[in-house]
Amino acid sequence: MKGRRSKRIHPAAQLAAFAFWLPSALASEVPAPPAGASPQVLNGAKLYQAHCALCHGPKGRDANVFPRPIWGPGHDIGKFGTAKGLFDYVQLLMPFDNPAKIDDPVKTAIVAYMLVRNGDLKPGGSIPTGGDQTAIK
Ligand code: HEC
Repeated sequence: MKGRRSKRIHPAAQLAAFAFWLPSALASEVPAPPAGASPQVLNGAKLYQAHCALCHGPKGRDANVFPRPIWGPGHDIGKFGTAKGLFDYVQLLMPFDNPAKIDDPVKTAIVAYMLVRNGDLKPGGSIPTGGDQTAIK
């Protein structure tokens, strides 16, 4: 019986191990920024994780709050037409819990990042604050 007792892991230790594992597991979901990203796109990648990933997932899909993809295969952001159209939506409504939390340049950088992920903008590209006529496919 001595052996069984020594194998038992204390619940507090299990909890500590879980608490240690959880953030690293979430962090491992965060994709590397696009290769050759412009400063705006690189910034957008970080800002997306900070302000949008909570509800849309680190990869823009499969999240609990809004599971449908917001870029890439199966996305439905084509309805916004252009970078400006997507910006206008984000400007008005996102982050959903508090759209006023972040300003226009921050929202623009996030939109630029989304467009790169969606293949509509080159990683080294950028868009003016408020978006432009870059088409969303
Ligand atoms: C608190 C949760 C939450 C956060 C944070 C959040 N969103 Fe959303 N998002 C939602 C919900 C819920 C919807 C659906 C809204 C609706 O249908 O009216 C949505 C919808 C969207 C859509 C439309 C998708 C579609 O296919 O119609 C886009 C684009 C979007 N969000 C982008 C963003 C961006 C960019 C950010 C960060 C700046 C962000 N969201 C932050 C919850 C969130």
